[in-house]
Amino acid sequence: MTLEFRKLHPLFAAEVSALDLRDVHDEGNLERIRAGMDEHAVLVFRDQAFSSEEQRDFATRLDGELHRKTGISVLQKSRFGDEAITDVSNVDASGEVLESDSRKRLYGLANRLWHTDASFQDPRGRYSMLAAVALPPVAADTEFADMRAAYDALADETKAKLEGLRVHHSIAYSRITLGFDFSEEESDQLKGAIQPMVLENPRTGRRSLYLASHASRILDRPIPDGRLLLRDLMEHATAPEFVYRHSWRRGDFVIWDNRATMHRARPFEDTRHRREMRRVTTLDIGDPARIAQAV
Ligand code: OGA
Ligand code: MN
Repeated sequence: MTLEFRKLHPLFAAEVSALDLRDVHDEGNLERIRAGMDEHAVLVFRDQAFSSEEQRDFATRLDGELHRKTGISVLQKSRFGDEAITDVSNVDASGEVLESDSRKRLYGLANRLWHTDASFQDPRGRYSMLAAVALPPVAADTEFADMRAAYDALADETKAKLEGLRVHHSIAYSRITLGFDFSEEESDQLKGAIQPMVLENPRTGRRSLYLASHASRILDRPIPDGRLLLRDLMEHATAPEFVYRHSWRRGDFVIWDNRATMHRARPFEDTRHRREMRRVTTLDIGDPARIAQAV
């Protein structure tokens, strides 16, 4: 099987030639996909027909360990019976579109802020894989920003200033900025994690800015200085030239590297139209190729 990558944006993101990922088990093709991720950071596969279990099993084959300590699991259990399968939908357990004041909806609205998945956990997230199961008749796009290109474009002086900085990421923080309330018990389970400001992909040596709306403060700076620096960097990193906007088609399956990109959902009339998406995220542990060989 030859895999071809067609670029979707001058800097990153590519569409992969037709294949059914349920049939991809051999190490050669899995490694070609990982190499594609290293290069493009976002890969779009069309017409995938995964069940939730098949999606989870593919994620395990490709990248090993799965992220299960999701933020939403603190609020309610996954309707798929496995916390590795995150419901990124605007429907309740019985499939009805969520009411405007539903807690799940309000929590999910924060996906409209620029972020990376599972930066608030240690180990952090590596790849996220999102399947479009049911789409509204209106645009409900997702934007991605290339954080490698954003890093490269910084002045040398700024790069030097960022060296060694440590950032606290908390999923509660990004929600609180939108006015979401957590109970004390929930907050206790969402303490967050400390991450470097700059990450390096160990396979390619490429560096990226590791930012998200979950980034609450820089440990090595007074809070206002750190927050202002974070805001400046977010503004820089999400300039239009770094952004690819994905218009979903049913059956699309998009994999992104959370170390190398940020993403956000774009608004649509979500109390009117159903949008069902299912996500599995892997953890940034070890070398993906070696982990997958061991399972
Ligand atoms: C996600 C996410 C954005 C969207 O699944 O992690 O942020 O457009 N999704 O649904
Ligand atoms: Mn996300």
